[in-house]
Amino acid sequence: MARLNILRYPDPRLHTVARPVASVDERIRRLVDDMLETMYAAEGVGLAATQVDVHERVIVMDTSETRDNPIVLINPELIWQSEEMRLAEEGCLSVPTIYDKVERHASVKVQALDREGQRFEMQAEGLASVCVQHEIDHLRGKVFVEYLSALKRDRIRTKMIKKAREEQRDG
Ligand code: NI
Repeated sequence: MARLNILRYPDPRLHTVARPVASVDERIRRLVDDMLETMYAAEGVGLAATQVDVHERVIVMDTSETRDNPIVLINPELIWQSEEMRLAEEGCLSVPTIYDKVERHASVKVQALDREGQRFEMQAEGLASVCVQHEIDHLRGKVFVEYLSALKRDRIRTKMIKKAREEQRDG
């Protein structure tokens, strides 16, 4: 397994629309394993392939407190979403140090393929529901800061560019 480089906002590659996975083969399983290692190392609850510059519909997540319940979603599709909405704070490994509130469906049902290529359905509530919607947005080329006001987004963009410059200078 290998840790992958995570793209940082405002990298334009984060706005690429991912294509469906044609077949769940060894290459995809290696990608899934590398994404899980990368997500756990970065202490994130979810990671979309878009964030590691692979533009195929693959998501990994683990919203358990014990960090031992990896979930793999290949070609995920939302098949139901609650009318009830909920406002919750979100962060993103591609937008480090930034947290803000986004309104999402309180619960969703998703259909996907697992690491073995088997179809399954999952109902997600709470943090898992937020995570599924956030990660599916990544596959559509959307970053959570796009739900915020233009003013906030501009501030975040400036902050991220400055942070990247400082890291380049220091590292
Ligand atoms: Ni994210």
